[in-house]
Amino acid sequence: MNEVLLSTPEAGIALIRINREEARNALNDAVRARLADFFGQLSEDKEVRCIILTGGSRVFAAGADIKAMAEASAIDIMLRATHRLWQAITACGKPIIAAVNGLALGGGCELAMNADLIIAGESARFGQPEIKLGIIPGAGGTQRLTRAVGKFKAMKMLLTGQPIGAAEAFGMGLVSEVVGDDQVLERAMALAREIAALPPLAIAQVKEVVLAGQDIPLEAALMLERKAFQILFASADQKEGMRAFIEKRPPEFKGI
Ligand code: HXC
Repeated sequence: MNEVLLSTPEAGIALIRINREEARNALNDAVRARLADFFGQLSEDKEVRCIILTGGSRVFAAGADIKAMAEASAIDIMLRATHRLWQAITACGKPIIAAVNGLALGGGCELAMNADLIIAGESARFGQPEIKLGIIPGAGGTQRLTRAVGKFKAMKMLLTGQPIGAAEAFGMGLVSEVVGDDQVLERAMALAREIAALPPLAIAQVKEVVLAGQDIPLEAALMLERKAFQILFASADQKEGMRAFIEKRPPEFKGI
C-alpha cells in the first residue's frame, strides 16, 4: 500500500510519489491500480488545482514489471486490461506535472508522457527499451512519443531501445524544462503553485482543447477552441480576470 504515496504539500497541490525503490519503481498491477485510484480521486476533488507525479531520486519508473509479465500468455495480458488503469490518468482533467529524476523507461516514460508538463533533472534519462525484451511499448510509447518528437526521433528511440539524456529530450520537445537534479521538485512545486492560482475552469479548458485538438483535423480543433473560448465568458472568473486588469488590482479567482 505504501508503494504509491499521496500527499498535499500545499493547499490546491497534490503530490503523488511512486515509492517502489527496490524494484526501481516498476509498475506492477498494485502500483498501477493505486495510481489509477489516486488520479480518479483527485480528478473529482474541487480543492485540487494541480497534480505533481514523481518517483525517486534515481528512478522515476523503470517501466512495467517485467517479472510480472515474463511468463504471461497473450490472453493473460489481454485480460489484465491495464489500459483501463492508464485511462484514469489520461481522463484526469487537472493539470499534471511529471517531476522526473533518474530513469523514465518503458512504461515509466509513457507515464511521464501522460503528464501535461515534464520537469526533468539534468541526469534524467528517457527511453523505450521494450524492443530489447521482444515487445513494443504498450501504453502509448509508439504514439505519444511520435506526436511529441516526430517520426525520426521517435523511431530512433523505439527501434534501438537506447535511452536519451535530459538535454536531448528537451531539445526534441519531450520535456518542458531541465533543471538541476536537486531542483526538480522545487521547480515542479513553483509551477504547480502558479497554475493553482489561475482560474481552474480556463485551465481545464486549455488541457481539454489541447489534448482533444491534437488528434482531430485542424478546422475541427479550432472550432473546439472557439467554443471553449466562448463558454469561458459564462464564468465569473473571466469577469473577475478582466475587471481586475482594468481596475489595476490582482484578481481573485473563485473557480466558477
Ligand atoms: C521488474 C525490475 C524492473 C522492471 C528493475 N527491476 N526494473 N523488476 N520490472 N521493469 C528490479 C530488478 O530485477 C532488480 O530486482 C531490482 O529492480 C534492481 O534492479 P537492477 O537492474 O539491479 O538495478 P540497476 O542496476 O540500478 O538498473 C536499473 C535499471 C534496470 C537500468 C532500471 O533495472 C533496467 O534496465 N530495468 C528494466 C527496464 C526496462 O526494460 N523497462 C521496460 C519494461 S517493459 P532484484 O530482485 O534482482 O533485486 C514496459 C512495457 C510497458 O515498460 C507496457 C505498458 C502496458
